[in-house]
Amino acid sequence: MSEDIKRVAVTGAAGFIGSHVVDWLLAEGLEVFASDDLSGGFIENVPDGCHFEELDVRDRDGVERWIQDVRPQVVYHLAADATEGRSQFTPISATERNLVGYMYVLTSSLRAGVEKMVFVSSLSVYGAQTPPFTEDMPRAPVDIYGLAKASSEHATEILAAVHGLRYTMLRPHNVYGPRQCLSDPYRNVVAIFITRALKGEPIYIYGDGEQRRSFSYISDVAPQIARSGLMAETDGQIINVGATEDYSINELVDALEDALDMPIAREFVPDRPQEVKLAWCAHDRARKLFGDEPTTPLDEGLREMVAWVREVGIRPMNYLQELEIDSPDAPVTWTKRLI
Ligand SMILES: NC(=O)c1ccc[n+]([C@@H]2O[C@H](COP(=O)([O-])OP(=O)(O)OC[C@H]3O[C@@H](n4cnc5c(N)ncnc54)[C@H](O)[C@@H]3O)[C@@H](O)[C@H]2O)c1
Repeated sequence: MSEDIKRVAVTGAAGFIGSHVVDWLLAEGLEVFASDDLSGGFIENVPDGCHFEELDVRDRDGVERWIQDVRPQVVYHLAADATEGRSQFTPISATERNLVGYMYVLTSSLRAGVEKMVFVSSLSVYGAQTPPFTEDMPRAPVDIYGLAKASSEHATEILAAVHGLRYTMLRPHNVYGPRQCLSDPYRNVVAIFITRALKGEPIYIYGDGEQRRSFSYISDVAPQIARSGLMAETDGQIINVGATEDYSINELVDALEDALDMPIAREFVPDRPQEVKLAWCAHDRARKLFGDEPTTPLDEGLREMVAWVREVGIRPMNYLQELEIDSPDAPVTWTKRLI
């Protein structure tokens, strides 16, 4: 770890992963400047001890002023609208929040002489290729969210080559755990299923439930993101981070029945447009860089998550008033507000 890094900035710090990254950086004794527009995150998530500012990354002047004031050595960019499945129905806001907002953060960082950018990308950049995904596969996103992440990665490589910025880009996947937003009907399958089950209501499964994912517990993701900004070995690297074992959605529900100790009624609804059936990653690079610790088993992580949800209580779902494209292909769970 670099002893020279003392000041860092984190966007999306009121969010699920961002707040855990801030925790880790504070524990390392760093001065942390945190921002978020609180659109998808919560002020309660922001750890004590950091300097927090409410800031929308689409506010170009605001971002420029914040970075100039803070003068961080490392910027961690996590701010995003992470509703991947919805992005086909909200392509403008998904692009403005995820690509344009990042361009403001990246450009201001270059102007302010930031030493290193840590960009939190996503497995969505792999699209529908054959898993396990390895970092040397081409970017081939099949949805608007993945397109914004892939373009952000590519832009980072180009601008870093031209302007001499160090960077690391991480690709987490299907992360769950305490502080995850429990009120978003458009994303966070584990949170939605737990909420429905605790309400005694059936869960809705898109398609046949045989989509396979590696559900990754937060403690197997946030420390790696935080550490990558302080390590020279991660410079110029793209790194998959998260759990190694893949499960189907049906298997996830089985595991949740055990964690909750109750049966869960299942209803099947049509597939979501552009949803990739099989998506999980290889982690050889992460193991080499961060160590070969085993990741949290699904049953253990789910028990932790369930205990946290029981502690904080379930929350009402928060639907958007309107999608940008009012389409008959929008999932019935959203249009009929079933979740
Ligand atoms: N959770 C996952 O499984 C997962 C998987 C892959 C990648 N990611 C990426 O990790 C990052 C964090 O995701 P998360 O799961 O913690 O989601 P999250 O919604 O909890 O965190 C994202 C934060 O960004 C903030 N934000 C959104 N738009 C903003 C804007 N215009 N200006 C400022 N802040 C804004 C939200 O308020 C929220 O607090 C995102 O970049 C996401 O794309 C998450």
